[in-house]
Amino acid sequence: AKGAAMVTAVAYRLTEQARQIQETLAEFRLSKSQLLEVKKRMRMEIERGLKKDSHKEAAVKMLPTFVRSTPDGSENGDFLALDLGGTNFRVLLVKIRSGKRRSVEMHNKIYAIPIEVMQGTGDELFDHIVHCISDFLDYMGMKSARLPLGFTFSFPCHQTSLDAGILVTWTKGFKATDCEGEDVVELLREAIKRKEMEEPEFELDVVAIVNDTVGTMMTCAYEEPSCEVGLIAGTGSNACYMEEMRNIEIVEGNEGRMCVNMEWGAFGDNGCLDDIRTQYDQAVDENSLNEGKQRYEKMCSGMYLGEIVRQILIDLTKRGFLFRGQISETLKTRGIFETKFLSQIESDRLALLQVRAILQQLGLDSTCDDSIIVKEVCGTVSRRAAQICGAGMAAVVDKIRENRGLDHLDITVGVDGTLYKLHPHFSRIFHQTVKELAPKCDVNFLLSEDGSGKGAALITAVGCRQREMEAQ
Ligand code: GLC
Repeated sequence: AKGAAMVTAVAYRLTEQARQIQETLAEFRLSKSQLLEVKKRMRMEIERGLKKDSHKEAAVKMLPTFVRSTPDGSENGDFLALDLGGTNFRVLLVKIRSGKRRSVEMHNKIYAIPIEVMQGTGDELFDHIVHCISDFLDYMGMKSARLPLGFTFSFPCHQTSLDAGILVTWTKGFKATDCEGEDVVELLREAIKRKEMEEPEFELDVVAIVNDTVGTMMTCAYEEPSCEVGLIAGTGSNACYMEEMRNIEIVEGNEGRMCVNMEWGAFGDNGCLDDIRTQYDQAVDENSLNEGKQRYEKMCSGMYLGEIVRQILIDLTKRGFLFRGQISETLKTRGIFETKFLSQIESDRLALLQVRAILQQLGLDSTCDDSIIVKEVCGTVSRRAAQICGAGMAAVVDKIRENRGLDHLDITVGVDGTLYKLHPHFSRIFHQTVKELAPKCDVNFLLSEDGSGKGAALITAVGCRQREMEAQ
């Protein structure tokens, strides 16, 4: 009888433990009505960002980009492009040919940006960038070519023209000093001048500053003209789309459309998502470089998903439900669960033993039960990410539909980003959510190939043409 009582006690403890774990995860499982609420709030924040009176305080900034049309195939020439702010820093040479046999040829090289440069002074950062350009030109054997340059700079910038962008605030892992509030095109030009003092033939012409979402949209629109939205679901999360000029109150003119860089990562910074944010989201925020900022991005982008998972695992371990109650040094380390690990852990083809092997690689000694729990935690966190990202996108496509007075809208969204591309479930759940929450829109998703480089070059081509026209 004593043995039976013990078995019952153990069984009770296990079910109680399972119940508590489920209770913890329940907060991440959003109902359809909660998601519709997220969509509705995104819509409200979009309006606030677009209106003159509320633009200043608005969390979602809706920044004008001065890109007024998608490509038409007549773009032509050789361009340099820089891509800063994604997973890698790259310098690219892009050759665009117009006409019957239009084509785009690209060469690129990836450069490391050491963390001390990312978080050092602005001059150091821009000198490093120019040093990489110079190395790239050497490598391509075209040192003295004076090419127009498009700068994909994937941070919020207040633009007053195609080639001027004041950095509103750093996001993601960047924190270089003396850049916020400055025109980053000027900072780049000054660094180029410093380089010219050493090497007189070094001359570059910065024509456009481009957000990665806009580059992505333009790249996809080059192949598919119905593409009028760009999405990045990667290290960060953001979207852009073609908005009616008459709705963009902070830019003069009412004719036609302009692409707006939404900077939707900052959605929720005014507290409007507090009811769905969990204690773990708050812990991730408190541990970040930019506390209180980019709250939506911190719930749905690659840089932070692993951090949410880590916070949950720490809590479950403290409560004795995981890793025999032992919090290892690994578990205390920021950033251990990169997107690629989450993607591996959640892969359906992986047996539990392999999940254990991955955790082992990360330095987490797990039992079989542990690995089941870890996998469930990852799945729950990434599902919520895909769903709230979908709710945001549903708000955008419905807005475009209403702008055009349509009962039904067919539209294409150009997409890029490691989370979208690598994760085994994110894209599917994201698509499904958009479909459910915006039933009057038929949304086609197009993967962008190298949007940041190609898109920057396409926009630079348009910028050069505009300049020529103005000069005439
Ligand atoms: C961050 C940046 C935004 C960028 C996004 C994706 O949210 O603020 O400009 O588009 O990351 O890289």
